[in-house]
Amino acid sequence: MNLLVVGASGFLGAEVCRQAVAAGQSVVGTYHSAAVAVPGVAARRLDVTDRAAVRALLAEVRPDAVISTPYRYDDWTVTADGAAHVAYASAEVGARLVHLSSDALHGGRPEPYGDDEVPTPIFPYGAAKAAAETVVRAVDPGAVLVRTSLIVGEGSKQIQLCRDALAGRMSLFTDEVRCPIDVTDLAAAVLELAASDYAGPLNVAGPDAVSRAELGLLVARHLGLDPGALKTTTAIAAGVRRPAEVRLDSSRAAGLLRTRLRGVTELLA
Ligand SMILES: NC(=O)c1ccc[n+]([C@@H]2O[C@H](COP(=O)([O-])OP(=O)(O)OC[C@H]3O[C@@H](n4cnc5c(N)ncnc54)[C@H](OP(=O)(O)O)[C@@H]3O)[C@@H](O)[C@H]2O)c1
Repeated sequence: MNLLVVGASGFLGAEVCRQAVAAGQSVVGTYHSAAVAVPGVAARRLDVTDRAAVRALLAEVRPDAVISTPYRYDDWTVTADGAAHVAYASAEVGARLVHLSSDALHGGRPEPYGDDEVPTPIFPYGAAKAAAETVVRAVDPGAVLVRTSLIVGEGSKQIQLCRDALAGRMSLFTDEVRCPIDVTDLAAAVLELAASDYAGPLNVAGPDAVSRAELGLLVARHLGLDPGALKTTTAIAAGVRRPAEVRLDSSRAAGLLRTRLRGVTELLA
């Protein structure tokens, strides 16, 4: 399969590239400001906010499948418009599209969210991810929208936040609950989905729901650090407006995929 990984310089994109190259696939990977560090990947610079550039690259590469990962937390034009440009250009060349979405498009509640629930965003990043899904579905109803949660593993930003909180440099929220997934599991799932014909939203997250503070404690135990050093607070006290509890029910993905989606308690045992 000829694969185009948009955002190959990112955390997930790089792991997708690693696994695809190892499986003998031909991989073109894009970067914007960083570099593509995976051997065997043909690296190309791309700004997804530039619609003409996205169309030109897709027309040149003509991939069988596209993995679309780019986002910037505080930049609607990258997260929403960029996703739209990639979807449009992928459809133009008839490529299978795997779009990376997020649990951030949900508003938060104690009950787990199913795969097909409509977005209920309550903050700008969640709204941009929701807008991206809407446009991707409209442009390409056959695309799969991978709704995922905190991505953990070697080099993860989420794990670094835990290390920072254990070093007293910041605090982790006790009232923000997510379902972390390992980057290698997520990348394997994404590649399986690229080779499938699944269409629409699919929750692809770990089975364990933990607060960010609980994740910090698991990291402390895993790394042999003092859990008592963990600084915690609440999102409410910090005045942060983000969804509090978002549990993704990934049982459909677990039944569909060969890849086992491991829980964070197993990962950090
Ligand atoms: N990380 C998480 O915990 C998490 C949780 C839920 C959902 N997700 C979703 O999963 C996906 C991957 O996340 P990640 O953690 O792997 O992200 P990441 O490491 O921050 O990588 C983001 C990628 O987007 C690229 N990018 C940024 N601006 C761009 C632009 N204007 N044009 C083209 N590319 C641009 C970056 O390129 P450069 O680095 O070269 O600038 C990088 O390759 C995202 O869609 C995100 O919404 C992530």
